[in-house]
Amino acid sequence: MWAYKPVIEVWIDIGDLEDYPSNLIPGFYDRLVKALPSLQEHRCTYGEPGGFLKRVEEGTWPGHILEHLTLELQNLAGIPLGFGKARDGDRRGVYKVMVRANNEEVTLTALKYARDLYLALVQDTKNPVAEVKEIVEKLRDLSDDLLLGPSTACIVNAAEERGIPSIRLSDGNLVQLGYGAKQRRIWTAETDQTSAIAVTISRDKDLTKSLLASAGVPTPEGRTVTSPEDAWEAAQEIGLPVVVKPIDGNHGRGVFTNLYTQKEIESAYAVAIDEGSEVLVERHIVGDEHRLLVVGNKLVAAAKGETVWVTGDGKHTILELIKIQINSDPRRGTSEEHPLNPVRIDSAVELELARQKLTGDSIPPVDQKALIQSNGNVAFDVTDLVHPDVASQVVLAARVVGLEIAGIDLVAQDISKPLAEQNAAIVEVNAGPSLIFHLKPASGKAQPVGQEIANHLFPPGVDYRVPVVGICGEKGKTPVAEMIAHFLRLSNLYVGLSCSKGLYFGSRAVPNTNTSNWENARRTLLNRAVEAVVIENNHLSMLIEGLAYDRCQVGVVLNIDPKANFPQYAIYDEDQVYSIVRTQIDVVLPTGVGVLNADDAMVVQMAELCDGEIIFFTENPQSEAVNTHLQKGGRAVLVGKQQITLRSGKLDQKSIPVPRYSEPDAASPWKAMNLGASIAAAWALDIPFNVIEAGVETFVTDTNTATGA
Ligand SMILES: Nc1ncnc2c1ncn2[C@@H]1O[C@H](COP(=O)(O)OP(=O)(O)O)[C@@H](O)[C@H]1O
Ligand SMILES: [Mg+2]
Repeated sequence: MWAYKPVIEVWIDIGDLEDYPSNLIPGFYDRLVKALPSLQEHRCTYGEPGGFLKRVEEGTWPGHILEHLTLELQNLAGIPLGFGKARDGDRRGVYKVMVRANNEEVTLTALKYARDLYLALVQDTKNPVAEVKEIVEKLRDLSDDLLLGPSTACIVNAAEERGIPSIRLSDGNLVQLGYGAKQRRIWTAETDQTSAIAVTISRDKDLTKSLLASAGVPTPEGRTVTSPEDAWEAAQEIGLPVVVKPIDGNHGRGVFTNLYTQKEIESAYAVAIDEGSEVLVERHIVGDEHRLLVVGNKLVAAAKGETVWVTGDGKHTILELIKIQINSDPRRGTSEEHPLNPVRIDSAVELELARQKLTGDSIPPVDQKALIQSNGNVAFDVTDLVHPDVASQVVLAARVVGLEIAGIDLVAQDISKPLAEQNAAIVEVNAGPSLIFHLKPASGKAQPVGQEIANHLFPPGVDYRVPVVGICGEKGKTPVAEMIAHFLRLSNLYVGLSCSKGLYFGSRAVPNTNTSNWENARRTLLNRAVEAVVIENNHLSMLIEGLAYDRCQVGVVLNIDPKANFPQYAIYDEDQVYSIVRTQIDVVLPTGVGVLNADDAMVVQMAELCDGEIIFFTENPQSEAVNTHLQKGGRAVLVGKQQITLRSGKLDQKSIPVPRYSEPDAASPWKAMNLGASIAAAWALDIPFNVIEAGVETFVTDTNTATGA
C-alpha cells in the first residue's frame, strides 16, 4: 500500500469487463503485441522477460494491463519509472492501479492514454501502431515541458541514490536537495554557492580572459572593437587568422572563426554586434573545440567537438545534403535529450560556405567535401585522455573566475599534451554549463557528472540531514509534538513545528489556515533557517497525501485506534489502519530511533519494522515487551506515578519527577504517557539529560491541548 517514492493511485471500475479477461477478447493479445512489442521486456509475475505477455495470453484483467501500458508508454516517451501494482478494490469490478510518478500531470495523462489505448485494442477501433506512436509523441512533448531538464535530473537522481531527498521549487529547474538548514539548491548546474560576480565575469569574455591571463592561464590575445574598420585594424595588430565574436554571446551564435580577409572580418562584425553588446577580435587558435567540466577543484569530464562536413553526390544541393547526411543522425534533435543540434544554415554556416565559394543551393560534384561547421558539435567523450597539465589549468581557470562548477571551452590540437606545447588556449568559461555533452556523448563513455556534483554539494561522510521527528497516533500528537519542539529549542536549535495548531518557526506562530497536513509539514522542510523539524501526522493526511519527508531521525507512534476507519477511502479494518500508521516507523533512518508505546499491542508490533533502534515507553512496570527489550540492552522510558525513569539495559540513567501539568486525571489519563513519549524522543535525539529535565520543568502547557486531545 505504501511506497518510498511518489506514486499515483487510480481506482477504475471495469464494469462488464470483469467477465472478459484478456484471453476471452478475440485478437486482443495480437493487437497488444503489435502495438507495444517492447512489453516483451516486462517480467511481471513470472520474473522473466515475456512474463507479462504470458499473463495476457492466459488471461488477466484491465487494471493489470492498464498498469503495464502506462509504464511502457512512459518508458517509450523517455520516462523510465518502472514501478507499478494493480490490486483488487473493495467492490466487484473495482481495482486500484498504482504507478510511480515523478510528475502528477505527466503520469495522469499517461494513465488516460493507456486507458484509451486499452479500449481501442479491446474494440479493435484503431491502428495500434499509429496510435502508440501518436501517444508517445504527445507524452514526450508533455514531459519536455513539465519534467526536470536532463542536467538537473541527473544531479537530482545522483543525490537520491545517495539518500539525499529533493524538493522541486519551481516549474523550472530549481531544486532543493536536503532539508531545512542543511539544504543546497541547484538550478541546472548552478548552485546556491554560484556567485553572481563570478557569473557576471564569465559572461564577459574579455574580462574573463584578462583575469585568466593575469593568472598565467593561456588565452587568445585580442581586444574589443567598436566598428568594422576597427575590427580589421585589430586583426592586423593580432595577426591573421582571427576570430570575431560577441563579447557576451552563447551557443556559438555570432562566432566566426579562422577569418583572413577584411571583407570576412567586417561582415562577421556586423553579425556579431547583433548577438551581443560588444564585439571581440582575437587570435584564432588552431585545434579542436573541447568542453571540460570542472566541479569543485577537480576536472570531472571532457568532451571534444568535431567539424561537420557533407560529401557531394552530383545530385543534391548543400541544403539537401545537410538534411540527408547530417540531420538524419538520430543523435541530432532539438530536445534537451539530444547530444547534437540539427544543423541549419545560419550566417556562420553561410560564411563558411561562401569561403568555399558555395551556397545552400550549390550542388557539389561527386566526392567533393564541403565544410559546414567547424564548431558547435561537442559530443565525443575524451575524459580519459586529458593531460594533467590541461586538467590543472582548467581547474585554475574555474577558480580564477570564481565558479565551483564551470564548463571550460578550450581549443587544442591534442588534449593529451600540455597546453603550452601546442599553443592551445581557453576561449571561454561558462557558468551553469549543460551536462548533456557528458551524459549522452555521441561516442565514448558517459561520465558520472551527476554523482560528482552531488558529492561536491554533499561530501560523503558528512551528515547532510537536519533531525526530523514525525509523530503519529490517535491522540496526544499535538502536545507531544509541542514538547519535543520545546526540548529542541532548549538545545539552541531553530525549530520548525507543524502540528494541528498550526505552523511554528522558532517561537513564532505563522499565520496559516492549514493544520497538520502535508503542505504545512513541507513548509518546515523548505525553510533554510530550520535546524530541526517536528511534524505531527494525522492518519487521514498520511493516507491521502503521504508523509512530507522521505525518512526521519525519530518516528513516534503514540497509540492506534483500530476503529478509526475511512470507508470513503476503503479503509475498513484494523489491519488497514495499522498499514497507515506503520509508515511512520517504516521511514525511520537506520541511524534513527522509533519511539513506541509498549502498552498498545498493535504499536509494539511495529518494532520489527524499524530500521533503526527502538525506545519503548510504558506505564506498566510488568510490560513483557519492555522487559525483553531491556534485557537485550535496549532503552525504555518508564512512566511512574511520581517519576519518569530513563533506563537502558539494567541501568537507570535518569529519573525526572512528573510535573503537575502531566499528572493524569480522570479526563485525560494519558498525560503522563505523553510526557514519557516526548522524553523518549528527546533522549533519542541525544538531548542532554539536564536539558530534558529543564524542558520538563519549563514546558508551558496550553489547556486546550495538554489534555492530549
Ligand atoms: N580564439 C578562438 N580560436 C579558435 N576557435 C575559437 C576561438 N574562440 C572561439 N572559438 C570556437 O568557437 C566556439 C564558440 O566560441 P565561444 O567563445 O565559446 O562562444 P559561445 O559563448 O557562443 O560558446 C568555441 O567553442 C571554439 O570552438
Ligand atoms: Mg562556448
